[in-house]
Amino acid sequence: MADITVTIGKHTFQNPVFAASGTFGYGLENPDLVDISAFGAIVTKSITRQPREGNPPPRIVETPSGMINSIGLSNIGVDKYVSDMAPKYADIGCPVIMNIAGSSEDEYCEIVEITESVNSNIIGYEVNISCPNVKHGGIEFGVNAELTESLTSKIRKRTGKLVIMKLSPNVTDIRSIAKAAEAGGADALSAINTVYGMSINPHTKKSEIYTTYGGLSGPAIKPVGLACVHKVSLAVDVPVIGIGGITSGKDAVEYILAGASAIQVGTANYRDPATGISILDDLKRYLAEQNIATVAEMIGMVETYES
Ligand SMILES: Cc1cc2nc3c(=O)[nH]c(=O)nc-3n(C[C@H](O)[C@H](O)[C@H](O)COP(=O)(O)O)c2cc1C
Repeated sequence: MADITVTIGKHTFQNPVFAASGTFGYGLENPDLVDISAFGAIVTKSITRQPREGNPPPRIVETPSGMINSIGLSNIGVDKYVSDMAPKYADIGCPVIMNIAGSSEDEYCEIVEITESVNSNIIGYEVNISCPNVKHGGIEFGVNAELTESLTSKIRKRTGKLVIMKLSPNVTDIRSIAKAAEAGGADALSAINTVYGMSINPHTKKSEIYTTYGGLSGPAIKPVGLACVHKVSLAVDVPVIGIGGITSGKDAVEYILAGASAIQVGTANYRDPATGISILDDLKRYLAEQNIATVAEMIGMVETYES
C-alpha cells in the first residue's frame, strides 16, 4: 500500500486530508456523523480574542457551483475556547489545528499567548489573514507583504508549535505575500480562503448577503485555488496546504500535483461531513492505479507547457 503520510514542519500527518476552518466547527460537533480519527487533521473555525456574534443574517446563500458566506467570525472567544473546547481534544484521535483571527497584531499575539499558557492539546495555529467578511478581520494583513511578515514573526516568537499562514486569493500578487510569510518564519502556508463575491435576488432586487459582499467557496473556486497553490509552491520552500472547491479524490490529486502537501475540505462538508473520508479512499485508489508509492513524490508533479 502507498505511503500516504505527509510532513509539515515537525509534524508527520497520517494522511493529507484535513477539514477546513469554519466548515467543521470546533472539531467536536460531528462525532456521530463521521469518524474524525480518519482525518489527517482538523482545523477549527477562527477563534478571536473576544467572543463574536458574527454578522446579521442573511449570511449564507447558494450560488452556481458554490456558496457565498459572510459569517463574520462568529465564535466563543479564546478564553472559553481554551477552558471548554481544548481539553476535549486530548482524546478525539485527530490532530487539531487552531485557526485564529484578529484585527491587530496585539490581538493575534494575545490569542497565542493565552493558548500557549495552558495545555491546549492543539498542534499548531492556522493564522487567518484572509477573511473577506469582516471590516477588521485580518485581510488588512493578508493583502500587505510587510504586515504579513511582521505578524508572522511575532507569532513565530511566541510558539514552537506549527505556524501556518492562510492566504487570500483577493490580492494582486499572492507570491509576494507567501514569501513574506515564509520570511517571517511560517512553517507552512494554506491557500486559499474565499474569493469576494456578491449575489442579487432579481425578484426582490435585494442583495442576498447582509454585508453586500461575502466569500465565495465550493467547486466554483477550484481553478482559482489550483492556480494560487501552483504559484505559491513555486515561490516558497515551505509546504503549501491546498484549499478551494475540493469535493472528490480527483480534486485532491489535482491540488497535490499543483504543489500542495496536504489539502483541506471545506464547503463539501455541508453536504456530507464524511466527504474527507471518501476523498481519502479515492486518493488511495488513484495511487494504487498509478503505481505511485508515496503521496510525497506526487507533490508538484504537474507537467506544464512552460517551465
Ligand atoms: C461557512 C464558512 C465559514 C468559514 N469560516 C472560516 C473561518 O472561520 N476561518 C477561516 O480561515 N476560513 C473560513 N472559511 C474558509 C474555508 O476554510 C476555505 O478556505 C474556503 O471555504 C475554500 O474552501 P472550500 O471551497 O472547500 O469551501 C469558511 C468557509 C465557509 C464556507
